[in-house]
Amino acid sequence: MRIDHVGIAVANLEEAIRLYSRLLNKPCLKREVVESQQAETAFFQTGESKIELLSPTSEDSVISRFLNKCGEGVHHIAFETADIKAEMERLRKEGFTLLSDQPAEGANGKRIVFLHPKEITGVLVELCETIE
Ligand code: CO
Repeated sequence: MRIDHVGIAVANLEEAIRLYSRLLNKPCLKREVVESQQAETAFFQTGESKIELLSPTSEDSVISRFLNKCGEGVHHIAFETADIKAEMERLRKEGFTLLSDQPAEGANGKRIVFLHPKEITGVLVELCETIE
């Protein structure tokens, strides 16, 4: 599976966009508020993959909780799948724990689901499928 993006939790999205623009020497591709994650996102293209900066839009956001617990840093790795439902079924059978029964609407026109990091060496994994 191709790595679609790496998600990075940031406290200040404006500052982080300026920083990653300088780091990658290119402008931000797009910004978007994702209601299902209570987060605002900013994407940068990096070769075939992207960097997704995530900042919380509410205190209840999972990104808020992550920042309070861990501070800024890598939050998740997202793999692209052509058929998220089939992949969810396969991974369930493999014994992985999905964080929701149904895919949610994610940023950048994707259907997404997260896998619990406990069985994946502490890494929060996202599966994403592009909505046609
Ligand atoms: Co993501």
